[in-house]
Order: sequence, then C-alpha cells, then structure tokens
Amino acid sequence: MHGVKISGIGRAVPELELSNDDIAKFIDTSDEWIASRTGIKSRHISTGETTTDLAAKAAQNALEDSGLNAHDIDLVIVATVTPDYTMPSTACSVAQRLGIKNATCFDMAAACSGFIYASEVAVSFIKQGNYENALIIGADVLSKGLDWEDRNTCVLFADGAGAVIYQRTNENKIVKILTASDGEGSDLITLPALSEPNRFNANQNTQKYVYMNGREVYKFATTAVPQNIQDVLVDTGYTPSDIDLFILHQANARIMDSVAKKLDVDNQKFFKNLQNYGNTSAATIPIALVDARAQLKKGDKLIFSGFGAGLTWGSMLVIWD
Ligand code: ACO
Repeated sequence: MHGVKISGIGRAVPELELSNDDIAKFIDTSDEWIASRTGIKSRHISTGETTTDLAAKAAQNALEDSGLNAHDIDLVIVATVTPDYTMPSTACSVAQRLGIKNATCFDMAAACSGFIYASEVAVSFIKQGNYENALIIGADVLSKGLDWEDRNTCVLFADGAGAVIYQRTNENKIVKILTASDGEGSDLITLPALSEPNRFNANQNTQKYVYMNGREVYKFATTAVPQNIQDVLVDTGYTPSDIDLFILHQANARIMDSVAKKLDVDNQKFFKNLQNYGNTSAATIPIALVDARAQLKKGDKLIFSGFGAGLTWGSMLVIWD
C-alpha cells in the first residue's frame, strides 16, 4: 500500500458579494435572523461564473500551490450537484481548461458530503497504486437552483469551489476516511434534475428548486456527525482532544457548536468561515482549508467532516504536511 498526502490546495468564488442586508431588500428577512440562526453574514453569488469556471480556477490555484504540472495529474474528480452539463462531466471540462491530458475524469454527486466522498475514492485509488496525483474539486453554483423568493433556503446557500491535490508518498498523511448514508432521509433536501416531458410521458414534476426540511436536517447533522467523527477517532486511536482543528461542512454555526459540545471540545477548535461564504455545498471544506492554512503547522491533526443531501455524511483524519 502507498501513502498519500495533500500537496496543494486552492479556492475560487464569484466576484459578487451579497450581504444579509442586501437579501433583506428583496425578501422578508433580516441580518439579525440569518446571522443568529446560521452564523452567515455574507456570501458570493454568480453573475455568470459557471461551475466549470469556479472549479477550473480553484484547480489552477491548487496546481500552482503544489508545484506540479498539468501533465502530472492522472485523476480528476469533481464533486458537484450543479454541473453545467450532465455530459460531458465537469471533470473533463476542467481537465481541458488546465491542459490535463489522458487523466481519468468523472463527476460525483454526494451533495455537501461530495468532497469527503471524492477524497475517499481518490485516496483509495492512489493507495492501491493506480494513480499518483489526484485533483479533487468540490464545486457548486447552488444559486441557479434556488428560489430567490423562498427565505427558508435562499439565505443559506451560495456559490464556490475548492480544490485539493492528493499525492502518492511513502509516509501516509491521510489516516482514515469513513463515509455513510441513509436513503430514508432522501426527501429532506432535494433539487430535481432534468425533467422535461417527452412525447410519450407528460412529466408531472413541478419542483424546480432546492427544498430543505431545515429542522430534520439539523437533527440529523447534530446526531450523525459527532458519531461519525467519534468512529474515525476510535478506529485510529485518537481522542477529540488530540485534534488540532476540526473543519466541518460550513452549513450552520449552531450545528458546529453542537458537534463541539457533543465531542466535549472547545468550539474555538472548529474553524468557521461561513460568515463570509454561506453554504457552498461540496466546496465548503476545501475553501475552509485554504482559509485555515495560516493557522496550521506541520504535523497538526485535522478532522474534515461533511454532511448533506442523501442523506450522506463522512469524516476524515488528516496529518497536515
Ligand atoms: N428570515 C426570517 N424568517 C425566516 C427565515 C428567514 N430567512 N427563514 C425561515 N423563517 C421563519 C419561518 O417562516 C418560520 O416562521 P413561522 O414560525 O411564522 O412559520 C420561523 O422562521 C421558524 O422557521 P424554522 O424553519 O422552524 O426555523 P429554525 O429555527 O429551524 O431555523 C434553519 C431554520 C436555520 C434552516 C435551521 O433549521 C437549520 O439550521 N437547519 C439545518 C439546515 C442546514 O444546515 N442545512 C444544510 C446542511 S445540508 C446541506 O448542506 C445541503
């Protein structure tokens, strides 16, 4: 078995910043409601930047950060639920933009857990010896799937991309990844795919936008996530207090505070940047990693943890190199 480490990270967000006050100008909400319930103050929303644009920009930044060349990359996975095209995959378009040739490229849909799921696949492939350098991107432009008159959802979600390059090494730095799902909760967060009626089938599906049962998702996240992190820690022989920084999916500050409490960890050890970005779905963890980098030291033990539609969830333990 080979070892794997993170060798480069990058992020990209659209230029437009939309504050809670900006949103309160067109729907019945307030900065006070949004900030106190979620921790979100502002987010970036596309005015034309596509999922591919953001994914390619984040990937280019990660490539430069790693010091690798495009021809070194032999696997590209884009975790997204908002691709610009169902075919070709976003991963193929990103490879074309960066000049990556002959890599295995595909997209993966695991919603807000997408980055962890894609990481598990890439890390397993590298450990088995099939690949050397994998470019993993979490990218979503959820603003195109939002009903901007639905205050239950449009204040929460936003657009962005984050990328990580996993590289084969002798010394393993990706200690453990554990993912899971529960399809019983598949109706709690939904966004329909293509649903045009055809000549033979008058499609009755009228849902167009993101739907979320916020209360049930909150209950799920505050139960499944601490258990999943505990499982990773037990499997690896660490305790919560051994971890230097927890980087969770940036959906809601209250979820992170609840997970910290359940693990009996100071919530200052839970990195938060959702105040500036909102919930960018598959992109939140790699974007947060870029923003957290200044406070990381070589050898730090990090937990990444994602959760979302499916229901899906997953956590990983990483040694920062
Ligand atoms: N502004 C003002 N009022 C609002 C808003 C808003 N933006 N949104 C909802 N309300 C109102 C509701 O209409 C409701 O009013 P009513 O009582 O008159 O009917 C009231 O606020 C309470 O609504 P709830 O939905 O019960 O509010 P709650 O306290 O549960 O907070 C929230 C909602 C923030 C969404 C919470 O349920 C939550 O955080 N859930 C987790 C969701 C999450 O994190 N999802 C992302 C993870 S999954 C993924 O990333 C895909």
